[in-house]
Amino acid sequence: MSVLSVNLAENSYEIVIERGSLASLGRRCRTVGMKGMAAVISNRAVASLYGSVVQDSLEAAGFTVARIEMPDGEEYKNSVSLGRIYDDFAAAGVDRSSFVVALGGGVVGDVAGFAAATWMRGIPFVQVPTTLLAQVDSSVGGKTGIDHPRGKNLIGAFYQPRLVLIDVNTLATLDQRQYRAGLAEVIKYGVVYDRPFFEFLEANRAGILAMEPEFLIEIIHRSCTLKSQVVEADEKESGLRAILNYGHTFGHAFEALSGYRGLVHGEAVAIGMVLAVRVSAAEGMCSQADVSRVFDLISRYGLPVEIPLYDRQQLLNSVAADKKSKGDSITFICNRGIGMYAMSHHTPEELLMLSGLEA
Ligand code: NAD
Ligand code: GLY
Repeated sequence: MSVLSVNLAENSYEIVIERGSLASLGRRCRTVGMKGMAAVISNRAVASLYGSVVQDSLEAAGFTVARIEMPDGEEYKNSVSLGRIYDDFAAAGVDRSSFVVALGGGVVGDVAGFAAATWMRGIPFVQVPTTLLAQVDSSVGGKTGIDHPRGKNLIGAFYQPRLVLIDVNTLATLDQRQYRAGLAEVIKYGVVYDRPFFEFLEANRAGILAMEPEFLIEIIHRSCTLKSQVVEADEKESGLRAILNYGHTFGHAFEALSGYRGLVHGEAVAIGMVLAVRVSAAEGMCSQADVSRVFDLISRYGLPVEIPLYDRQQLLNSVAADKKSKGDSITFICNRGIGMYAMSHHTPEELLMLSGLEA
């Protein structure tokens, strides 16, 4: 077992990484001061796998449990699903003495977290991430929210969980596509923040792709450590935290253009990183050898590297909808060599040129 701390003054919490830890959820919720009713938000797929063990653990610790399901998929990370969750809260009597448990991947985590942030002006919540992507990234750091047809995550709140409980065993039921999608966010940390981690990912690909337990624990632990450091330095993204959006400017645009139904988030980020490393090289921040190295790592992990066909104007509009844009200028995250970040500012048109999407 490993326990990490996210130190954010009165918003501090622990990340528990342990095989089989779902069964300890109730006890751990008690330890962090939860009381009353637990509103467990999940989707049918995850609830059918892990809903019972979570419910049993919470009930054994003396909580009453209301189980709430939202539909499965990024296309449901929206205001309709959120509204239904509020309806379910009202019907179950979820009040200020209750708390929310987000049981699932990043979609459930983001929506459930935002529901908790806004219901009765905020009730506590606990993250129980069950995808690799959620375990290495989205469950940590308190970004919660929903998508808008105009862009990803345009509606949301910074709202920290009281606990993140990572049961690595839940990854056994995750399909390979989703597992690889999570690896895109793992690769991201290496490219912009941690060169030795990048090299570790290069050297241990076979074991990581085979989900060997020691490698799983290592990549989750390392990713959560890096994410915690960044969030502790800049909780509300006034500076450093923006580096975690490496690959996301184009990635989010491709997701939005597909109506949130084509590429999954991690795949879109992988393609976005291919473009981000090209922009970095065009700006003289890294070499062509670095471009090849990043490209090779992404493709060798089985992630997509082909740029989807797009309508130029739609792509420009979608890139412009990025949350990191101010007026015409977008803060674009680059890599300096491998393992260091840099920030640049460009119009969407300049980004298309620098990324080689148009001559
Ligand atoms: P997801 O939540 O859609 O989960 C992927 C699929 O895996 C779903 O079909 C889900 O039902 C299924 N699943 C989940 N756990 C499973 C398990 N253990 N076994 C079998 N199937 C399982 O996708 P995701 O990749 O986890 O999350 C992507 C979302 O996370 C995006 O909306 C993205 O914007 C968000 N995100 C948020 C942050 C943040 O800081 N809040 C960071 C990165 C990504
Ligand atoms: N995944 C981006 C962030 O948490 O800031």
